[in-house]
Amino acid sequence: MIGKDIKQAIEILNKEQLVAIPTETVYGLGGNALSSKAVAEIFKVKNRPSFDPLIIHTDSLEKVKKYVAFIPEQAMLLAREFMPGSLTLLLPKNNNIPDLVTSGSPLVAVRLPQHAMTLELLSQLDFPLAAPSANPFGYISPTTAQHVNNQLGKKIPYILDGGPCEIGLESTIIGFEGDEAIIFRRGGLAVESIEALIGPVKVLTHSTSNPKTPGQLKSHYAPRTDFEIGDPVMLLDQYQGKKIGVISFSKNYEQVSLANQIILSKSGDFSEAARNLFAGMRHLDSLGLDLIIAELLPEKDLGRAINDRLRRAAA
Ligand code: TXA
Ligand code: MG
Repeated sequence: MIGKDIKQAIEILNKEQLVAIPTETVYGLGGNALSSKAVAEIFKVKNRPSFDPLIIHTDSLEKVKKYVAFIPEQAMLLAREFMPGSLTLLLPKNNNIPDLVTSGSPLVAVRLPQHAMTLELLSQLDFPLAAPSANPFGYISPTTAQHVNNQLGKKIPYILDGGPCEIGLESTIIGFEGDEAIIFRRGGLAVESIEALIGPVKVLTHSTSNPKTPGQLKSHYAPRTDFEIGDPVMLLDQYQGKKIGVISFSKNYEQVSLANQIILSKSGDFSEAARNLFAGMRHLDSLGLDLIIAELLPEKDLGRAINDRLRRAAA
């Protein structure tokens, strides 16, 4: 069921059942992070392998301190500036966080989502919510309640509808090793904003072999339709006769009907493009096309995070 009833969501979560929650990045599939039963249900509903750990969500830095052993100085600076927001911190976990949540890692991923409805919900819970993106494992993350309902509606009792996600890309994940800060996943908070605060950071690029975090899995966030990256004009020429959809940054490619085309931002705005990306991918994926062609954005700011998702959709 889809609704806006926070009380009902709380009742369900208190029974160790799951509720999909809105955040500014993407919708999450939430359950009591301290309950093995709820956490196991999250893995089951998503069909997610147990080696892929979950982010925990809460509404204040004070509460975060209950679940982590300590907060390094750089993490503290980032938390003060960007929390709540599209940033996830990897921190040494406390014993009260079940190993199932972190897939056995001594680190726990922590996030304060910037969404009024969900902050209100979290403030009324006496446990943090474990919440991966509310999609089947490997598929595109949901940015509306309807997206969640389409795929998981029959498997979960409640979807809290907080409107379309304002950022539209998953959070940026950052960890700390000694004095070094390391980006494990590009996301809704641009690396430039992080570096402006704490100086240069290292960005891990994804690999298929031995990923440190499965968010680095090369093939992920993927539609079912074949997906290729490149210059639409060249590829359209190469694949003449096929039913093709195009995702472009700001240009209209007249060779393709407007119905089969997603223009992410006519004015070339990265934030607008990010907001439209996943809904656009889902839409084209529903049209029964032979191929989706996407062009890359300029490699800066959120353009880089968008390109990361496009590359993984194509992998
Ligand atoms: O914006 C977001 O981060 C959304 C919303 C719902 O908060 N959540 C999200 O969760 O994208 P998920 O599970 O789809 O992606 C979380 C990523 C995974 O790739 C996981 O491997 C990584 O975070 N992760 C979680 N806990 C970790 C840990 N302890 N160590 C390393 N990586 C971790
Ligand atoms: Mg996900």
